[in-house]
Amino acid sequence: MGDILGIERLNFRYPESPKNAVSDFELSIPEGEIAVLAGPSGCGKSTLLRTVNGLIPHMYGGEYSGDVIVAGSSVKGSSMRDLAQTVGFLFQNPENQIFMFTVERDIAFGLENLGVPREEMRARVDEALRLLRIGDLAQRAPHELSDGQKQRVALAGVLAMRPKLVILDEPTSLLDPKTASELVALVARLREELGTTFVVVEHRLDLLVGVADRLVVMDGGRKVLEGAPRDVLFGDDAEAHGVAIPAVTRVQKALTESKGGRAVAGRLLTPSELASAVEGRQG
Ligand SMILES: Nc1ncnc2c1ncn2[C@@H]1O[C@H](COP(=O)(O)OP(=O)(O)OP(=O)(O)O)[C@@H](O)[C@H]1O
Ligand SMILES: [Mg+2]
Repeated sequence: MGDILGIERLNFRYPESPKNAVSDFELSIPEGEIAVLAGPSGCGKSTLLRTVNGLIPHMYGGEYSGDVIVAGSSVKGSSMRDLAQTVGFLFQNPENQIFMFTVERDIAFGLENLGVPREEMRARVDEALRLLRIGDLAQRAPHELSDGQKQRVALAGVLAMRPKLVILDEPTSLLDPKTASELVALVARLREELGTTFVVVEHRLDLLVGVADRLVVMDGGRKVLEGAPRDVLFGDDAEAHGVAIPAVTRVQKALTESKGGRAVAGRLLTPSELASAVEGRQG
């Protein structure tokens, strides 16, 4: 499969800002991947996502050069209406994305705007309710739901548009640990079932290393590291760029550095990998 997203020599500077928020950025994401974007606060992650969903350059002023290609079309040459059907976008705060009086109507909102015929709309809303396992919420009022439920409703509204690419900006920041790991499991399931590509800005790498194919680290508007999460997180530079090293990886590094030769072999990222490694050694 080809690349769903290509970023080519991209530079962007907000109006009246002295420096670029995104500099000389290059990135290619093949269809069906889950890619994680990390880096310190203010390094340009949200800005980069805006260049993918078209808010930049269509809604923001500023200085823009280079190109962003989504599903074969240049973002700067596409209308927001066309982009809305290819790129799904979940804001950090789902409140900003919930408009209607019932969950069902809310999920249908984007489709109504596109003038999708009633029957097809019904089918797509039902599918989204099923995928997110929120059929029981269909008639509820969105404003009376929990943050985790709202997050699912907002994501259902995104998925009902059947985007090839979904970008999520810190989707777990409002969620408790259990709901956050459920959201990550959901992302993995949607990738399996629908082949959707995901680009996720996330600080809590512990949550995502088990499902991510690629980890991209930004610093100061530039891409500073990129690779399989294991390669990036076991490299020498990840900590220097402020990346949160997963707990299991830190435990393993500590074991390796402690005396007595009790190191666990391999390069471990997840609790289940650590469990297998320890069982293997004892058995
Ligand atoms: N609307 C805006 N107008 C002007 N400057 C902005 C705007 N939004 C962001 N910036 C600046 O662009 C730079 C990158 O900001 P951005 O929000 O993309 O960072 P981020 O990596 O998403 O940070 P965080 O992790 O805190 O969300 C920062 O210097 C920020 O101050
Ligand atoms: Mg941000």
